[in-house]
Formats: sequence, C-alpha cells, structure tokens
Amino acid sequence: MYSVSMLKLGVNIDHVATLRQARYRSAREPSGAIPEPDPVLAAMEAELAGAHSITAHLREDRRHIQDRDVRLIRQTIRTRLNLEMADVPEIVAIAEEVKPDEACLVPEKRQEVTTEGGLNVAGASQSLAGTVARLKKAGIAVSLFVDPDERQIKASADVGADMVELHTGTYANARHEVEQAAEIRKLTAASQLAHKLGLRVNAGHGLNYENTPGILAVPHLETLNTGHSIISRALLVGLRQAIAEMLALMTPHTK
Ligand code: PXP
Repeated sequence: MYSVSMLKLGVNIDHVATLRQARYRSAREPSGAIPEPDPVLAAMEAELAGAHSITAHLREDRRHIQDRDVRLIRQTIRTRLNLEMADVPEIVAIAEEVKPDEACLVPEKRQEVTTEGGLNVAGASQSLAGTVARLKKAGIAVSLFVDPDERQIKASADVGADMVELHTGTYANARHEVEQAAEIRKLTAASQLAHKLGLRVNAGHGLNYENTPGILAVPHLETLNTGHSIISRALLVGLRQAIAEMLALMTPHTK
C-alpha cells in the first residue's frame, strides 16, 4: 500500500490549540477543569484517519501550541512530527531537546494572524546556516518555508537545508484562474529548481478542499501541510472524515 512516491498529507493541529487557548491558559485549571480540545488527542485522531505526519508550530508568543503539547505529541505519535519554528535561540534549543523528525523554519511576527510570507533565506543566510547545521546535528531533517522564488531556493540549498516548503499562500489567495495558473507555473519552476539542487519539496499554506486539486500539477511534491481548512471542516464533519476527504482529493497522485 505504501509507496515512496505517494503524495503525503501533514496535518497541522495548531488551531485545535487555538480553540483551547480561547478559554484556557494553563495545563490544568485551578478548578480542576481539563483544558479542551487537546491537540495531543487531535494528533492521534489525525493519524488514525491516515495523516502521514503531524505539524505543530511552537510560536515564541505561545499563542496556540504550548511546550507541553510538543513534548507529548513527540512521545505519542507513530508517524512523523514536523515542528514549525522561528530561527530564535529559545525555540532552537527546545527543538534540539525534543527532536522532532523534521523542523520547518518559518518567519514569525507578533502582529501577524498567521505566517505571512516565506523566509528571506538569502538575507539571513549566516544565521540560518548555523541553525540548519545545529538541527541537522541533532538528527532533525530541516525544511525552509520559502516563496517560490529562484533566489530563495538557491539560498536554501546553499545554507544546507534538506527540504523546502513552498509557500502556497499567493496561489491560495488568487482570485482568478489566470492568476492561479501563473502561480502554479511559479511553484512548478521553484519545485524543479529545488529538485535539481537536491532539495526535497513540500508545500503548504492556505490549501483547502477547493484549491488542493490544482496544486497536484506541481512536480516533485512529497508532503502538503494543511491546517486551517481541515480543522474548520472537522468542526462540522469530524476530524476523521475531514482528513479522509482531503486524502481522497490527493489520491490522483498516489501510486
Ligand atoms: N505550512 C506553514 C509553513 C505554515 O506556517 C502554515 C500555517 O501555520 C501551514 C503550512 C498551514 O497553513 P493553513 O493553516 O493555512 O493550512
């Protein structure tokens, strides 16, 4: 059943934690109430539904995922943990200790609602090269979240990354087919270049049940990382069905 060429789904469970943090602030409330929903249970459920990996973003401001979540998910999941993180000393040290299977370095700004753009790898290559080396030394495969831009892809290879995650936000936000097609061409060119430079290629951000089929035209993709649309749909149909529906949309590319 399993094939290395199968397009995989990474489920981002950040927004399960967003819902919990809307009400609770500590791991166990003074009243005895157990904060819910628990992203650790959501990660297990996602795996049971067929997710190939679990993605969680431990932000510096801890607005959704908490340290406890990452540690427990690391201990309990049976697939792979992809930790999204900023290139900052505190989080790099946590990653070295928790040892996710993969780390995806992303830009982070306090005011943003979600990750807004790709990393400027070319403009921060010295710091990124050091962090990539540290994470790789800890046995973690390193991905860089980048816009589909030639300069950023080349810089990603130069700083020693194993993978890039292509930012699909502009594709997802495109209003017209012409604009969407142009974005697919950009993503395709970026993926081809990354592949040629020996980088593995993932993609994500803003992917949903409408626009995911279109992304399948991009070559060399290994994993799509999707969060908000799956968690939103899960509120209505349950997490297992929401994930099964997304996997079904991706099956034209499973071999
Ligand atoms: N990939 C990266 C690098 C992200 O930062 C995010 C958002 O946390 C996602 C994928 C998932 O995006 P969405 O929630 O829009 O599916």
